Parts: sequence; structure tokens; C-alpha cells
Amino acid sequence: MSLADLAARRRTHKAFGSEPVPPETLLELLDVARLAPNHHLTQPWRFRVLGTETLARLKECGGPAEAAKLERAPTLVLATAALSGDLIQDEEDVCATAAAIMLVLLAATERGLASYWRTPGIFRTARGREAVGVPHGERVLALLHFGAPERDPAPRERAPVDTYVAFLD
Ligand SMILES: Cc1cc2nc3c(=O)[nH]c(=O)nc-3n(C[C@H](O)[C@H](O)[C@H](O)COP(=O)(O)O)c2cc1C
Repeated sequence: MSLADLAARRRTHKAFGSEPVPPETLLELLDVARLAPNHHLTQPWRFRVLGTETLARLKECGGPAEAAKLERAPTLVLATAALSGDLIQDEEDVCATAAAIMLVLLAATERGLASYWRTPGIFRTARGREAVGVPHGERVLALLHFGAPERDPAPRERAPVDTYVAFLD
């Protein structure tokens, strides 16, 4: 499959099969993260695969509505960027981590897995961060959802290339 086909095939899924993604497969997906472009090679990406106890802690501090959302996918991976406190480096490291996340999503799509990049508000609270052991200085970028696809979500409409590209003199 070409990269363009792979990118077009990736969708935000909100319904998943119940079977968790095996750890070996997860490691294969997450292995591509380190190939992301990264200024000064700081390798800021961090991925935490949520286990049952961590998930239970998170559900408890999120309340029933959030708990129900956390049950949508059988495999959840928290993606963060480890930052240094230097404003410019931090900005670049957040970008590098987002690029790493995108590679992981494409790797999942290539294997026929459904995925979802979600940014739950719970990770903007001290309790939510503590529940998953995110230290000070790490920025939460995504709670990635993975599993078997249950549906085939329709592609979201996007503006064509000529609306956002300019060839300068
Ligand atoms: C940084 C980021 C944060 C996102 N957070 C959420 C979220 O919290 N909830 C949600 O429903 N979708 C979230 N999304 C997914 C987008 O809503 C989704 O990509 C968009 O609707 C386009 O759909 P598609 O991914 O199927 O192409 C997020 C995407 C990105 C890149």
C-alpha cells in the first residue's frame, strides 16, 4: 500500500473489538516512533501502555462518563513528550512527538488495526496525570486507542491542496 493510501485509510475509530492488541504487536507499532524527525535527537517521545490497575485508577478519577469512554478500546497507550524547559526545544519536541505518534498510527493502519488519537481533559488535571505516573516536565499529547475495527468510519471532508499551499516567488 502506498503512503498516500495508508494515510487515506487511517480513520478516527470510536468502536473497537474487545481483543487487546498483543504486546509484541504494540512493540512493533511503537518501534517506528523513533524514526520521526527530531532536532538535536532528544528523542522526547514516551509511550505508556495502560494496564488494568492503571486504567482502574484513571476511571476512578475521571468519573462515570469518562470511565465509559475509556472502555471503548481494549488497548490504550498514553503518548507524552519529555520536555527540557527550553522554550524552543520544547516546541520542537512536541512537534517531533506528534510526528512519532503519526508514524505509530500509520503502522497500526497498515496492520488493519483501528486507532483513535484522543486528548481527554483528565490529563490536564494533577490527579489524572498522577494516575498514570506522568512526571512534571512531560506534556501529554494523546491517549491512543487501538483494537480491531468494528465499523468503517466515513472519511471526513478536507479542503483540497490548492487551498492551503502557496508557491512563492
Ligand atoms: C491532537 C489531536 C487531538 C485529538 N483529540 C480528540 C479528542 O479528544 N476527541 C475526539 O473525538 N477526537 C480527537 N482527535 C481526532 C480528530 O477529531 C479527528 O482526527 C478528526 O475528526 C478527523 O477525523 P479522522 O481522524 O477520521 O480523519 C484528535 C486529533 C488530534 C490530532
